[in-house]
Amino acid sequence: IEHFKQAVLVCRNGEKVLKGDDMKNVALMEEDGDNGISIVIDSNGLIEAVDYDAKIQEKYNNTKFDNKINAKGKCVVPGLIDGHTHPVWVGDRVHEFAMKLAGATYMDVHKAGGGINFTVEHTRSASEDELFLPFKERLERMLHCGTTLVECKSGYGLNVSTEIKMLKVIERAKRELPIDISSTFCGAHAVPKGKTAEEATEDVISVQLPQIVELMKNGELQVDNIDVFCEKGVFNTEQTKKILNAGVEAGLAINFHGDELHPTKSAELGAELNAAAISHLEEISDDGIVAMASSGTIAVLLPTTAYILRLKHPPARKMIESGVAIALGTDFNPNAFCLSMPLTMHLACVNLHMSMNESLVAATINAAASLNKSDTHGSLEVGKVGDLVIIDAPKWEHLVYQLAGHGHVIKHVVKKGNIV
Ligand code: NIG
Ligand code: FE
Repeated sequence: IEHFKQAVLVCRNGEKVLKGDDMKNVALMEEDGDNGISIVIDSNGLIEAVDYDAKIQEKYNNTKFDNKINAKGKCVVPGLIDGHTHPVWVGDRVHEFAMKLAGATYMDVHKAGGGINFTVEHTRSASEDELFLPFKERLERMLHCGTTLVECKSGYGLNVSTEIKMLKVIERAKRELPIDISSTFCGAHAVPKGKTAEEATEDVISVQLPQIVELMKNGELQVDNIDVFCEKGVFNTEQTKKILNAGVEAGLAINFHGDELHPTKSAELGAELNAAAISHLEEISDDGIVAMASSGTIAVLLPTTAYILRLKHPPARKMIESGVAIALGTDFNPNAFCLSMPLTMHLACVNLHMSMNESLVAATINAAASLNKSDTHGSLEVGKVGDLVIIDAPKWEHLVYQLAGHGHVIKHVVKKGNIV
């Protein structure tokens, strides 16, 4: 891919995560007169070289490439990484959007039997194929918005058979679609009807998790993370801790929902358990910020949720200044129906007061780090996957600046060297 005007590498010295002022200073190459920038991707889909055109021409003088893309006047950023989604379900909740616009809170809807439990009912009665089709379409839409690695949660089953069904559907997408997926078991996404939180905790730990571990052992499932909705009226901190610890014993990384609607000291808990990531954090305490900075736990912020539910926004500036690494996710789910990372980055800038550079770091290398994948993903560095977004504008920032404009701004999404 040759003649880029700008190539935003994000980092260039193998950094695995960027914090504080480093989130502002992304590594960038700009064309020098007629000397643009080229990226060479090898037959395994890995980046082999990133350099000025002249240097690449000299080095690859006698090489015949299978494919060449001319990107004159265009810009490139790494494939975007969505750190938090709930994409496997049927039964939309457009009617609840109307209720919320009329004044109902998220918990009002949830307690009235709607919310997660509404989606659970529909998802339980769907077949694997019925779940796969809309999921596939959502992943394709995400790809068109520039996402090349996405975290996908289960959590609309809340019983062993449906949780496994969802995880299997995610496995199928890994085989059939050109997008990388990090799978998360979220059997503790809500307390199912007919159970107490204590009983649901027991079910997740003693029934659901052991069967999932069995399927992981025989290679039918590959699950990466464990998640819990730690929230007043859902799972309390003690129950959350038990479930997360059981997940760690099963070999999963901790990546959970916390401090969203009420302060629950989720940040402190996650730091104590050395969590890879905690999402939401609208209600994080000052002690929680300090704890996350020292444990290196990544904050996955979800500006779409706070926007849709009119919640207070998480204190992103304070977190960055205190040394907490910030990542971003769309939180795609039937409550927050957003598949677009560029839109999420825009909201992070306007509502969370992040700079465009910070939003890009949060949507690439730091989101990779939240999924323990920053060795292979999240920057344009030699040896990493050849995932990129080619932007049809003279500055990469148009990706964020043009509100909901990604459909026009994104020229190509490249996954492992191939246009998708
Ligand atoms: O991240 N808070 C819990 N989970 C989702 C909502 C899921 C749903 O409402 O279906 C979230 O916002
Ligand atoms: Fe969520």
